Amino acid sequence: MQHIAAQIAAVRAELETRPAGLVRHVQRVLVEALDLAARWDLDPERVELATWGHDLFRSFPPAEQLRLAIEAGLPIVEADRADPVLLHGPIAAFVLRDRFGVLDDEALAAVRDHTLGSRDMSMIARVILLADKFEERKRKRTPVMREIRRLAWRDLDLALLCWADWKWVDEREHGWLTHPDHWGARTQWVEEHHRELALPARTADFDLATG
Ligand SMILES: [Fe+2]
Ligand SMILES: [Fe+2]
Repeated sequence: MQHIAAQIAAVRAELETRPAGLVRHVQRVLVEALDLAARWDLDPERVELATWGHDLFRSFPPAEQLRLAIEAGLPIVEADRADPVLLHGPIAAFVLRDRFGVLDDEALAAVRDHTLGSRDMSMIARVILLADKFEERKRKRTPVMREIRRLAWRDLDLALLCWADWKWVDEREHGWLTHPDHWGARTQWVEEHHRELALPARTADFDLATG
C-alpha cells in the first residue's frame, strides 16, 4: 500500500484537474476539516485524504455520474436516478479504493456518506460532512451554518442533528424528496439524541466508590 502522503498527493493532483470553483470549495472544506480534526484529536492526514477525495466526481454531468455508478455496481435507488449528483460520493469512494489504492475504510465511508450521512458514522465521516456544509462560502450563503459550525466545536452529534433538521425544513420548503439513506440516518440521530436525554442523572465517581 502506498504511504498516505503519496495517496494525498495523487488524489489532490486529480482533484486539481477539476473546475476551479470546485477546487476552491475543497480547499475551503480542508480548512474546516483540519480545524475540526485538531479539535477532536483525529489524524489530520486521514482527514486530508478524505477531503481531497470527497468531491472528485461532483462536477461530472448527471448522466455520467449515473453511468459510472452503474458501471461500478453501486447500489442505486429511485432517489439517485432522480438526482444522480447524489451518487458523486459513492463513486468517489469506489474510485479511491479501486484506482488510488486507498484502503482506509473510515476515510472511504466518509467520502461515500458526505452528502447524506449514514447510520453509523466514524468521527472522520462526521467531520467531513460538517466541514463540507459550513465551509466559508456556504456559511455566508446560509447563515445558520455559522451556528452549526460553532456547535460542531462543542458536540459533533448535535451539530449533525441540527444540520439534518435544517435540511428537512429546506427540503419541505422546496418540495424536494428526502433520500431514504438520509432519512434512515436522521431517524437514528434523533433516537440517539432522545436516548441520551433520557439517561438517568450522571452519578459522581465518589458515589460509585462508596456504594
Ligand atoms: Fe459533495
Ligand atoms: Fe464538497
